[in-house]
Amino acid sequence: MTQKIKNICCIGAGYVGGPTMAVMAKYCPDIKFNVVDVNIERIKLWNSHNLNELPIFEPGLSEIINKCRGINLNFSNNIKESIALADMIFISVNTPTKTKGIGAGKASDLKYVESCAREVAAFAKGTTIVVEKSTLPVKTAEVIINILKTAEKNKNDEKTKFHVLSNPEFLSEGSAINDLENPDRILIGGDDQNAILALNKIYSRWVKKNKILHTNIWSSELAKLTANAFLAQRISSINSIGALCEATGADIKEVSRAIGSDSRIGSKFLDAGPGFGGSCFKKDILNLVYLSNYFGLEEVGDFWESVVKLNYWHQHRISQLVVKKLFGTVTGKKICILGFSFKANTNDTRESASIQICKDLLDEGALLFIHDPKVDSKQITEDLSKVKNKNVEKNYSGEWATIKNYMDGCDGADAVLVLTEWQEYSQINWEKVSNKMRKPAWVFDARLIVNAKKVIESNLKLWRIGDGYNY
Ligand code: NAD
Ligand code: UGA
Repeated sequence: MTQKIKNICCIGAGYVGGPTMAVMAKYCPDIKFNVVDVNIERIKLWNSHNLNELPIFEPGLSEIINKCRGINLNFSNNIKESIALADMIFISVNTPTKTKGIGAGKASDLKYVESCAREVAAFAKGTTIVVEKSTLPVKTAEVIINILKTAEKNKNDEKTKFHVLSNPEFLSEGSAINDLENPDRILIGGDDQNAILALNKIYSRWVKKNKILHTNIWSSELAKLTANAFLAQRISSINSIGALCEATGADIKEVSRAIGSDSRIGSKFLDAGPGFGGSCFKKDILNLVYLSNYFGLEEVGDFWESVVKLNYWHQHRISQLVVKKLFGTVTGKKICILGFSFKANTNDTRESASIQICKDLLDEGALLFIHDPKVDSKQITEDLSKVKNKNVEKNYSGEWATIKNYMDGCDGADAVLVLTEWQEYSQINWEKVSNKMRKPAWVFDARLIVNAKKVIESNLKLWRIGDGYNY
């Protein structure tokens, strides 16, 4: 018989755990959701009265938190109690790339997942469905199952039973709520039919039946890594062609439109930019590279690694280009950076192209004035204060400042560099900006969002990514 789910615990109150449980709580008022985390500060922010202080900015999230928090959605550090109470537990903790030991720099560090499995093994009661929500290497479920099976035996209690499912998350930051409410598909991997049905029943409250896919557990784990690898590959592909456009006089927007009209290629994810960022693309591809090499498939590993290498090269290409256009040196020159998050509509800066490009420019001696509508200056300082260079940590403090009004960053500046596609940057009054800048002054648009005609009419020089037209 399908288990009736009354209490759900989610371990990990991050970019996935928080929004995912919020949407589930919205559609399942009869189920109690306890989102737990070891991070005390993060949980405090999830419980803030002021909804502008939630730890994550996502359009539509605060409205759901306002409606469900304290009713059937709770955030706390009570990990042990919440596990004990739960019929279903989502593991939604971070899975960063290993920094040392076997597989360092490529393989996933599963220490957080393992510690969750051990906590579940220690505190769960009765029959518990354990759901992998984190993105995990293929065969991770085996590790979790082994830890839980040992607990079943050790407890020597007929009633303690675990079923493990894989249910990877495909949301994108900035559109997380919409993605969760209208997913392209829900993927459930596993072999226990009752457990699958129990999770299926939850999603089917708001997701159409034909969008809920069932696979074996290994296919589910691999499909998540593959989806991210394919998406990232498209971005490296379009950025590589963008460089060719600049060299040949072609226009990347026109090329994208032309190839995107082919229904086999499709038009999404073909926007040239400063290179992909975000916490997952690089880490998940490197994980795939590690797995391929582990199984002796080196050519497969090399193929996917080239996607990451191209991205890295592309980010440096942009910073080098800025230096070249500014007469070969930016030492002591003021540059206004527009956008620090890895994409618009999120305050997340993890692996943002802005970090690498700013570091390159700081290395060249530039003075940066950095603006972002949602990223706070503490985060920017944290991201820029350290750079690994031959294992020596280098501190750049004093060579950049964060600004609240981007106009302040344009005062006497030689260049404005648009790195994130925030809507407000597409509406800039370039005449006003131009009046403040030192001439000749440049606008570098790495997102293709500025009004080219207005920039040029304002007596500014313009470079746009993938645009072979010589202004
Ligand atoms: P995150 O770093 O924002 O959140 C993870 C949280 O887990 C942190 O708050 C951390 O304190 C907590 N945590 C770690 N170990 C814990 C433990 N033992 N007990 C309790 N709490 C613990 O990470 P995220 O962005 O939410 O990503 C989580 C997973 O989801 C990753 O595997 C990621 O690859 C995957 N994913 C992320 C996204 C995204 O857009 N960020 C999308 C799809 C999938
Ligand atoms: C990505 C995937 O899109 C999600 O499906 C997945 O769940 C998630 O990773 C994950 O596993 O973490 P996310 O990183 O939030 O989501 O954002 P994307 O919209 O995919 O953008 C990633 C990067 O690619 C950003 O830096 C973005 O600016 C860049 N991008 C995206 C482009 O440069 N061009 C495009 O056409 C699209």
